[in-house]
Amino acid sequence: MNLKITLLPGDGIGPEVVSAAVDVMKVAAEKFNITLAFNEQLIGGCSYEKNGVPLTEEVLRACYDSDAILLGAVGGYQWDTLPQNLKPEAALLKLRKALGLFTNIRPAKVYSSLLSSSSLKPEILKGTDLIIFRELTGDVYFGEPRGFDDEKGWNTMIYHRFEVERIAKSAFEAARKRSKRVTSVDKANVLDCSQFWRKVVHEVHKDYQDITLSDMYVDNAAMQIVRDPKQFDVILTQNLFGDILSDIAAMITGSLGMLPSASLGAKYALYEPVHGSAPDIAGQGKANPLAAISSAAMMFAYSFQMSKAAKLIEAAIDKTLNMGYRTADIYSPNSILASTAQVKDAVIENFNQIYDEHALGVFTL
Ligand code: IPM
Ligand code: MN
Repeated sequence: MNLKITLLPGDGIGPEVVSAAVDVMKVAAEKFNITLAFNEQLIGGCSYEKNGVPLTEEVLRACYDSDAILLGAVGGYQWDTLPQNLKPEAALLKLRKALGLFTNIRPAKVYSSLLSSSSLKPEILKGTDLIIFRELTGDVYFGEPRGFDDEKGWNTMIYHRFEVERIAKSAFEAARKRSKRVTSVDKANVLDCSQFWRKVVHEVHKDYQDITLSDMYVDNAAMQIVRDPKQFDVILTQNLFGDILSDIAAMITGSLGMLPSASLGAKYALYEPVHGSAPDIAGQGKANPLAAISSAAMMFAYSFQMSKAAKLIEAAIDKTLNMGYRTADIYSPNSILASTAQVKDAVIENFNQIYDEHALGVFTL
């Protein structure tokens, strides 16, 4: 199998974590006999500096011509004052829209070795395994009209039927392979758009009678995720609510540095860590590469249908954490403070070791 991967490292710590993930992918590719061809391109602030725009047509074409995309992070203080359409974040939104990446999947799973890194009580977190299905190409993020003048600012929250239907289907399908529970999160008590969302989700649900569907208002959902995260399996939600809830859910894993994501459409797929570009620690070898590595694992699972390789990468991450290796964001006393490269090297070593054990039948996936 020959696969083309576009790399979009972006700004801040993006290049460091993408490079770590690529090293892991290369090792996995070799073991599983596939060939990966990497094509690195600019996105975000670095693209703006070079080309005057955060995303060029050429980069977009490279993305159209790839089997999967791995993105690092975009943004930085120096670009915060640019007009909206030139900001690094605009590149990400344009990419999501242009590639039709309507399903954003953000799993928040507790690593038992990180239970003490979260600001939440370990007994509340233990055993949590939830996954957020965030709609990614609609809502106030893209609704027109939008704008601001001296007196007012405005955006439009809008969902079309087909947009709600397809993300709802994605979530119900995923729930079938999990514990068959979906919580649809909206603000239907106040927003017409959310009322429409709820109505359509329930219509789609008629084809998924084996799945238990419940509705929850977003303010309550935010509270419930920190109160009792174990009650959730699949959370299905609008773009804006999903943005906020996934940051909250990140604390369940101990750090935003741990959360991977996949953005899928009918034709294209993009994988990226949920964390931002963290310019304050960029270039210092301090960044946590695990969310990027875990995003690469999602690529193997979702884009290449290589679930064994994906599980091996996840197992290697788990083992690395169990051995005590921690970047600063998840450091705790008695663990080993490690650099980006040290964590990555440990993941690779553990990957190889688990692979060999697996080959000998010791490790069962
Ligand atoms: C995310 C980010 C983006 C979003 C920004 C950078 C545009 O916060 O992927 O969660 O709001 O979707
Ligand atoms: Mn976000």
